[in-house]
Amino acid sequence: MARGGGSVFVCQSCGAAHPKWGGRCEACGAWNTLVEEAVSDGSARPALGRAGKRKLSLAPLAGETQSPPRRATAISEFDRVTGGGLVPGSALLIGGDPGIGKSTLLLQVAAALAQTHAVIYISGEEAIDQLRLRAERLGLRDAPVQLAAATAVAEIGTTLDAPRSADIVIVDSVQTLFVEELDSAPGTVAQVRAASQVLIRLAKRHGFVLLLVGHVTKEGMIAGPKVLEHMVDTVLYFEGERGHQFRILRSVKNRFGPADEIGVFEMSDAGLREVANPSALFLAERERDVAGSAVFAGIEGSRPVLVEIQALIAPTAFAAPRRAVVGWDSARLAMILAVLEARCGMAFGTCDVFLNVAGGLRIAEPAADLAVAAALASAALARPLPADTVVFGEIGLAGEVRAVARTDARLKEAAKLGFGAAIVPARRQKTAPTGLPLTEVARVADLLALLRRPPPGARGAAGDKRRAVHG
Ligand code: TYD
Ligand code: MG
Repeated sequence: MARGGGSVFVCQSCGAAHPKWGGRCEACGAWNTLVEEAVSDGSARPALGRAGKRKLSLAPLAGETQSPPRRATAISEFDRVTGGGLVPGSALLIGGDPGIGKSTLLLQVAAALAQTHAVIYISGEEAIDQLRLRAERLGLRDAPVQLAAATAVAEIGTTLDAPRSADIVIVDSVQTLFVEELDSAPGTVAQVRAASQVLIRLAKRHGFVLLLVGHVTKEGMIAGPKVLEHMVDTVLYFEGERGHQFRILRSVKNRFGPADEIGVFEMSDAGLREVANPSALFLAERERDVAGSAVFAGIEGSRPVLVEIQALIAPTAFAAPRRAVVGWDSARLAMILAVLEARCGMAFGTCDVFLNVAGGLRIAEPAADLAVAAALASAALARPLPADTVVFGEIGLAGEVRAVARTDARLKEAAKLGFGAAIVPARRQKTAPTGLPLTEVARVADLLALLRRPPPGARGAAGDKRRAVHG
């Protein structure tokens, strides 16, 4: 480490330090992530000082602890994701692509909280005038939010280092902050880590809520990423497809509430609007009776959400057929395709396969397997699924359909939105009736049999297309 005038090469993805530059980080395998940083980073700070002589006072596990009241925003989609409001003294990281709406969301949160709390909004990206313009556009001009445009952590720290300096502090974004003692540029792991450390310590000491904004790099990670995720109490991602108006706030880690909870918003001319009934929104533009479409009854966090899964299968013009996925895991798609080929005799080898989760939602549940398989098979056979039917179930490599959690909630949501039937895994215990007729499938092949069953009346064109795909 002595080389190069006291610098190391730090992976901007995992934070590992290497003595020499290389194209690839040996710790996490990421390419082109090593950046030279000065060694004298925050780790050399005196660790003990006078406190080193004091003994800890240990407390029993059993004891009375008053949980301080949470600071709720009355933006219920936001409060749901945080687990019922912001916890005093906690630090949150809000990550997301540039331009997705993080600043907009936080300004709205700031304005909502400012009615009852002291709120400071520190922007390193925009000038005060720009913030004011945005507030005006959002109709929040008169909210008593205190603004500052700053990037120097020393300055920000001095402002906040007093009892009752604030109740809520928003810092937008961590990538713009810099600690003067470090030589590295703002946005490097060393800077992001040191700056966040200072602010988080102040938040704990004075009991204000710290909301840190972090941009996600093209590779899909918050720059200075893992280090920061460990330091904060809560990590929220703000996601969505840029061309769509839907935005989803997702908790991926939460020390004070459930993880994997989502809040759904819609970006409008006047900022982000809450979406109280996401299923209705995700299904709003669905076309009925088209091949390649299946409605998945999913669970996001604590609530059921219905989304349309679309598949398109077309003869390929290339030696290696394309597999493109939006909103789902591409490895999982490969697995479902393999199961359909190996267990059901379908052939996708000469076809491009496209899979899309409509509306910009990103699904991670294995319960979507059966809906994906249904959309793929429906596209391949050019047969629509039975009308107004929801689908869910996990698929195993043997082609078996496995039961998933929270069947009742999924069926209830489907019934609520006017669906008339459901295709579900074969169940061991009967669940409470929801009024929906259920078609149980034990194997993926059963699903195909359902699709192949000729619809009452029609025959012809669909059959020809089917041969084309399988030929
Ligand atoms: P912004 O909050 O600046 O994104 P981030 O902080 O994540 O980079 O959002 C910018 C986008 O949001 C921009 O493309 C314009 C759009 N927008 C609206 O559509 N309506 C609005 O009322 C506002 C304030 C922004
Ligand atoms: Mg911003």
